[in-house]
Amino acid sequence: MTFKVLGICGSLRKASLNMAALRACRELLPEAMALEIADIGELPMYNQDVFDQGLPAPVKRFREQVAAADALLIASPEYNFSIPAPLKNAIDWGSRAPNQVFHEKPIAIFSVAPGPVGGARVQYDLRRVLGQLWGHVLPRPEVFIGMAAGKFDAQGRLSDETTRKFLTELLAGFKTWIARMQPR
Ligand SMILES: Cc1cc2nc3c(=O)[nH]c(=O)nc-3n(C[C@H](O)[C@H](O)[C@H](O)COP(=O)(O)O)c2cc1C
Repeated sequence: MTFKVLGICGSLRKASLNMAALRACRELLPEAMALEIADIGELPMYNQDVFDQGLPAPVKRFREQVAAADALLIASPEYNFSIPAPLKNAIDWGSRAPNQVFHEKPIAIFSVAPGPVGGARVQYDLRRVLGQLWGHVLPRPEVFIGMAAGKFDAQGRLSDETTRKFLTELLAGFKTWIARMQPR
């Protein structure tokens, strides 16, 4: 069985380093894991009136993608010490009943930032938010990719071998975590 993982990036920038690292994960996945990446840039801002009138197509697609995935891999910068608006917006759209899509979903998180802290603070906010939705966030290893500018080459490829090793370890641990979460 291949675990289908949906990647979600907290940055909408074309040259996003978080997106570049998420793409690099495709090369680092263990066997029997596949990674597709969602486009949360299409989602309108959450509005309960819109929700009540019927889900817009991008919201419907996003919720279906999350629901169909065996697991989620989230890569995000921190904005003002917390979750970037596009990512929080995507979580809010997915979180509404019926069938809130994060329930019992295995989730792994990593962050990329130009500073030395590597976006650590966004990870703790994501754990808090996703935990109350009954998403099961992998406790360890934690991966904070700090001082990121020097870790990608001119083509935006993750070139730092130590960082690639950290992500490889995260993904290996994630596979075990997903397997543990399967219904018996
Ligand atoms: C509104 C805003 C707030 C930011 N706040 C933080 C912050 O609190 N901590 C941090 O490490 N970087 C912060 N940054 C810098 C981002 O980490 C940086 O832009 C990062 O490269 C974005 O990720 P990306 O390359 O995937 O787009 C902020 C950037 C923006 C646009």
